[in-house]
Amino acid sequence: MFLILKTRPNGRVNYYIQLILCLNLTILILTESAQPPFACDSSNPATKSYPFCNLTLPISTRVNDLVSRLTLDEKIPQLVNAAPAIPRLGIPAYEWWSEALHGVSNSGFGILLNGTIKSTTSFPQVILTAASFNARLWYRIGQAIGLEARAIYNQGQANGMTFWAPNINVFRDPRWGRGQETPGEDPLVGGIYAISYVRGVQGDIFEGGGLKDGHLQASACCKHFTAYDLDHWNGVGRFSFDAKVTKQDLADTYQPPFQRCIQNAQASGIMCAYNRVNGVPNCADKNLLTNIARKQWSFQGYIASDCDAVSIIYEVQNYTKTPEDAVSEVLKAGYVISTHLLMKWFIQVMLFLCQVVLGKLKNIMILAHMDLPLSYLMLFFLLC
Ligand SMILES: *[C@@H]1O[C@H](CO)[C@@H](O)[C@H](O)[C@H]1NC(C)=O
Ligand SMILES: *[C@@H]1O[C@H](CO)[C@@H](O)[C@H](O)[C@H]1NC(C)=O
Ligand SMILES: *[C@@H]1O[C@H](CO)[C@@H](O)[C@H](O)[C@H]1NC(C)=O
Repeated sequence: MFLILKTRPNGRVNYYIQLILCLNLTILILTESAQPPFACDSSNPATKSYPFCNLTLPISTRVNDLVSRLTLDEKIPQLVNAAPAIPRLGIPAYEWWSEALHGVSNSGFGILLNGTIKSTTSFPQVILTAASFNARLWYRIGQAIGLEARAIYNQGQANGMTFWAPNINVFRDPRWGRGQETPGEDPLVGGIYAISYVRGVQGDIFEGGGLKDGHLQASACCKHFTAYDLDHWNGVGRFSFDAKVTKQDLADTYQPPFQRCIQNAQASGIMCAYNRVNGVPNCADKNLLTNIARKQWSFQGYIASDCDAVSIIYEVQNYTKTPEDAVSEVLKAGYVISTHLLMKWFIQVMLFLCQVVLGKLKNIMILAHMDLPLSYLMLFFLLC
């Protein structure tokens, strides 16, 4: 199981924690040159002896070695979007949260545009691009985004290469307000858009199947899984929204873009949405995340929750009686991400669960063989 905690700096507590994380990051950046924060730095003699740094070993061996070296206290903070460095192993910090809806953006925390590179290409809103009905064009835009992301990384201005795009929710209701982010209301077009964009970003060929040894140019993430197209309307907010969807409508309308994104495009990430579907919060829905995404569609990537999507399961949706239960539900559902407000309980529950679960779950997740900083190996495994 792999956890990522996506944080939202919208409260005092959050700001406080964010500040600490930023300070850590600053210290890290200041003590390193303006180069990508590679793990297994060959100039660091300590890393030479670690099997996880040995490129000739199979990735699963390296992952097992790395995980076996981490203490529980080191594993837990790796389950949030701002994963801290583990200096004793030469592993740099990693920021999972970057955005690239219609161009590499610094609206997440992973991309910094304050160095030599000060801007990126901003493509038109997705709804407009989609209106071209030109899959090659979508692919080429994805390619450009992935390439720019890689260039920014190589320039030492990225703390992560995981981009939380595309947004492929079916834009059925114009009152949503975020329809411009999506390829529109047609499930088929949405699916083909997902395939084209994801293949372009991740460095695949247009037809798919061209990733060399699974190495990614950058990592794409299809969101928001699933039946999410309401933000704030008539007293109903996205946190509390309970979408009533028939099985047929789910199969015909809401799932096809995600199925294509996973099966055809092999996106390395998906994000579960805030809303409930027929009463069950998406991020706590084992049927959705484990049975459908992982088992039926063979999803091998990481699952991120939307900002605070775990805390709202308890705080807004009243789905669980305690915060601990909310964390437990998302863990059991097959993945998770949480929020700072739940951090305290989260850590307690994680401590417990990891102890219980680690022994029996050898759920090593090979997400992508990026020849990147070793902290990207975090992409390769599911902790717990
Ligand atoms: C860019 O911003 C980051 C994060 O705020 C900071 O750590 C870094 O020092 C800045 N770099 C430059 C060149 O100003
Ligand atoms: C890397 O692994 C290979 C295969 O096990 C081994 O022969 C080699 O000695 C290892 N290299 C280092 C530097 O440990
Ligand atoms: C959750 O409980 C609170 C407090 O009782 C209530 O105000 C709110 O409407 C409930 N939310 C839902 C989605 O039922």
